[in-house]
Amino acid sequence: MTTPVDPTTTAAWAALTDLHRGLRPDLRQWFTAEPDRAERLSFQAADLFVDLSKNLLTDEVLAALLQLAEQVGLAERTEAMFSGEHINITEDRAVLHTALRAPADVEMVVDGVDVVAQVHKELAKVYAFADRVRSGEWTGVSGRRIETVVNIGIGGSDLGPVMAYEALLPYRQQGLSARFVSNIDPTDVAETTRDLDPETTLFIVASKTFGTLETLTNARLARSWLLDQLRSRGVIGDDEAEAKNAVAKHFVAVSTALEKVADFGIDPANAFGFWDWVGGRYSVDSAIGTSLAVAIGPERFAEFLAGFHAMDEHFRTADPNENVPVLMGLLNVWYNNFFGAATHAVLPYAQYLHRFPAYLQQLTMESNGKGVRYDGTPVTTDTGEVFWGEPGTNGQHAFYQLIHQGTRLIPADFIAVATPTHALVDGDKDVHELFLANFFAQTKALAFGKTADEVKAEGTADEIVPARVFSGNRPTTSIMAPALTPSVLGQLIALYEHITFVQGVVWGIDSFDQWGVELGKQLATELTPAVEGDADALANQDSSTRSLIGYYREHRAR
Ligand code: F6P
Repeated sequence: MTTPVDPTTTAAWAALTDLHRGLRPDLRQWFTAEPDRAERLSFQAADLFVDLSKNLLTDEVLAALLQLAEQVGLAERTEAMFSGEHINITEDRAVLHTALRAPADVEMVVDGVDVVAQVHKELAKVYAFADRVRSGEWTGVSGRRIETVVNIGIGGSDLGPVMAYEALLPYRQQGLSARFVSNIDPTDVAETTRDLDPETTLFIVASKTFGTLETLTNARLARSWLLDQLRSRGVIGDDEAEAKNAVAKHFVAVSTALEKVADFGIDPANAFGFWDWVGGRYSVDSAIGTSLAVAIGPERFAEFLAGFHAMDEHFRTADPNENVPVLMGLLNVWYNNFFGAATHAVLPYAQYLHRFPAYLQQLTMESNGKGVRYDGTPVTTDTGEVFWGEPGTNGQHAFYQLIHQGTRLIPADFIAVATPTHALVDGDKDVHELFLANFFAQTKALAFGKTADEVKAEGTADEIVPARVFSGNRPTTSIMAPALTPSVLGQLIALYEHITFVQGVVWGIDSFDQWGVELGKQLATELTPAVEGDADALANQDSSTRSLIGYYREHRAR
């Protein structure tokens, strides 16, 4: 195993420490002194136009960040990832989500297998299935065509599909919609199925491991709901064979563990596979995206994959000094480790991207929320900032106050598209233009602020002036695209995948395992008997857990 370079021992880190100490951020002055600042610090990555100029970045800082990338071996780690080395050390796996979107004519032999050929074989199955559902050839047990697909999954088997489905709603086939069940809170399944017609509903059970408690429980609940509903309508009788036939018509699965799919009772012929070299949070572009492929169709799904690939190519081939994922990843390190920024906001000015921040939370935080490096030694600096956000302009009327005037530095990514899906007008106003004016205004206000003199000049009473001053120098990155197409969505996702990777490389961590979710799962299983009323199991608990379970048992109405 290679040993990760400790970034804090590099010459670049020392240079960045000095630069940070001497830095007096002054975006107003920098923009005045450098008329070409926006031009020099704006980059094109596939269809994305990315403006980094409103970051706390000088030429010296940029040079030192690029040196840091070099000194921690980013190029070598990137090559190792793309070529299928087992860079997921703790699980001894290759990390090949990039193969999921490689064109069919690419050959990529990993551990003796051409993974791209494998991918396209499986994609063809997913596409054929999607076509059958979309055309009405695939019917439910009573012969009616499918109108709703319900994806049952959690984490990467939910967040990607639901986010992408919501983002690409305008592309879905009329009369065909998707819903998503993830939480083991029975409310989720109950509310999602409440007004569904069982005869026109198809469940997709999506689970990489097919061992996840939430998903298997929800899948069993869905199966019971389906059979109860069909029986109560007289569509099927009590016969076991009829139930089996109904399940075959209304359930398909996506998993890397196809034998477990069969154990659950889903016909393996109706199961789509993927591979252990795809991490859950990197899997929306695998068969895990089947619900999306059904909704938007194979052609659009292929465009989605092509978008990812375009960003992969940019990341793999662009020079570091114009490589957007590299630059954005390094900027995140700059803020995280030198300014102590603990959080990072992602603010889409595109309502269709309303689930994008939630999706990014798993991608970034499950990947980089680590306290040890890939060789088992402790990290040497902070890792894994908190990603969060809401669509603009809603966020403006909620939490932007803190970003503008709070005491903490919160770097923020603003995302917008030029062409709206709905070109609505309010009188003589194009509403999309009102919307985008807010995007431009916010990044401007955050960068340049408002001085006391400017506030005073507006006639503000002296004692109120301090409250109305904006310091500015609050860093933002602006990402714009022509429109929110499947390809652009793929590009955006891949952009953040690679940003996450870059940060992980700098910190020397394995961004592809997630052991931190295990203890809670294990304890939940161990605690279940105590919750169910086993007195001995309860007696073994700490006093707080005993008291909480006691409260639950006393107050649970049945
Ligand atoms: O929460 C841990 C995790 O393993 C995620 O990484 C994953 O996306 C999620 O659970 C769901 O796992 P699966 O797809 O195996 O059901």
